Amino acid sequence: MNEARSVLPPPPAIRPYSLALPAQARAALKLQQPRCLWLTGLSGAGKSTLANALEVHLHQFGLHTFLLDGDNLRSGLCRDLGMAEACRRENIRRTAEVARLMVDAGLIVIVAAISPFRAERDTARQLFAEGDFIEVHVSTSLEVCARRDPKGLYRAAREGRIKDFTGIDSPYEAPLAAECRIDTDEVELSHACHRLASFLIKK
Ligand code: ADX
Repeated sequence: MNEARSVLPPPPAIRPYSLALPAQARAALKLQQPRCLWLTGLSGAGKSTLANALEVHLHQFGLHTFLLDGDNLRSGLCRDLGMAEACRRENIRRTAEVARLMVDAGLIVIVAAISPFRAERDTARQLFAEGDFIEVHVSTSLEVCARRDPKGLYRAAREGRIKDFTGIDSPYEAPLAAECRIDTDEVELSHACHRLASFLIKK
């Protein structure tokens, strides 16, 4: 399917129910401050590589984490969604809701998704308490991403074999005020990873 069904408001009888166990209690047991680290950037920018390295690094520090990667979510929860604009908006909405549940469960959640639209990223941010959502712009340039082209998708998009490809015939709206910005063409992976980890730990 390439058109997301419009998201309906919940039926009037549905009200969020306050759980007896507060989110802070779950986090306290894990001895950590849960956060959502949201990596956005073009396809091939290095989001997944960075997110994976960071998760391993944080795990070695004894932190409880989970990585929500666009490709993985699109293989399951979001496999009914294509790449048209409405589908991407729905993809980000679902990703953000899952991330929020995981933060409530006490985890440090890393999201790696193109998430090309500013409005959806801003809506995602609003699901979290002040300071708990950290936007990381993986700002590797289109030129570098297209040169890397790890999956041959840029080439396919240029040859018209796939459409709605981010940066080619679908827009990418760069963050205006991300908490952190990393160009993986300029910064080594281990350095980028340490930078994000210390950013989290300092916070
Ligand atoms: S998002 O835009 O909805 O956030 P997401 O990160 O989940 O995208 O998925 C993008 C993944 O699908 C990338 O790994 C990319 O390689 C692949 N992909 C396939 N088709 C496209 C396309 N038209 N545009 C961008 N990425 C695509």
